[in-house]
Amino acid sequence: MPGNESSKLISIPLLNILAISGSLRAASTNSALSAGLAQNAPTGCRVIVYDGLGRLPIFNPDDEGERTPPQASALIDAVTAADGVIVSCPEYAHGVPGGLKNALDVVSRDAAVGKPAMLVHASPRSLFARAALAEIMRTMSFALFEDTALEIALLGKKPPEVDRILSEPASQLAMHNAISAFTDFIRSR
Ligand SMILES: Cc1cc2nc3c(=O)[nH]c(=O)nc-3n(C[C@H](O)[C@H](O)[C@H](O)COP(=O)(O)O)c2cc1C
Repeated sequence: MPGNESSKLISIPLLNILAISGSLRAASTNSALSAGLAQNAPTGCRVIVYDGLGRLPIFNPDDEGERTPPQASALIDAVTAADGVIVSCPEYAHGVPGGLKNALDVVSRDAAVGKPAMLVHASPRSLFARAALAEIMRTMSFALFEDTALEIALLGKKPPEVDRILSEPASQLAMHNAISAFTDFIRSR
């Protein structure tokens, strides 16, 4: 309705966020947390969980450009298309699991640069992996959002208990609020 300023609709573009779990376990707590984020995304934001980690070939800089494997191209395209990336990752031997580091290496050349990213945590004790992952992602020039640290303690829990914890209102609010803070960060850039 021209001339009627109060009736103008402000359209905010939908944000697409890619969630990556660093665990390949069928009963992974990190994958459950990633799925929980997808279910608790705030209005105006869609979280899609990446499921190709286990099929990614090991990164080889000789296989880039036209030689990029299709699975790697798919991940590069998904990260490029996403407005932000959320990573939930276990700690193995005080480090980042090889599969996740491999995925980050795949996107590090281009797609990672300036891409907003946030870490979330399913284990309260994985402090070495958290620090290493943050260092790796900063070095790859991800724009790491570090103001909010979502932690939902799922370490050692079996799927029914994990589901119960993630269905608690406090957990759902924490996931919703963490994504909201991340989307504010994305939109402020
Ligand atoms: C090979 C291996 C090494 C691990 N090393 C550590 C470790 O150094 N520190 C730690 O806190 N947990 C360690 N863990 C435990 C996992 O980080 C923990 O079980 C995590 O919650 C698994 O995540 P997931 O449920 O998503 O698979 C290790 C587990 C495995 C299988």
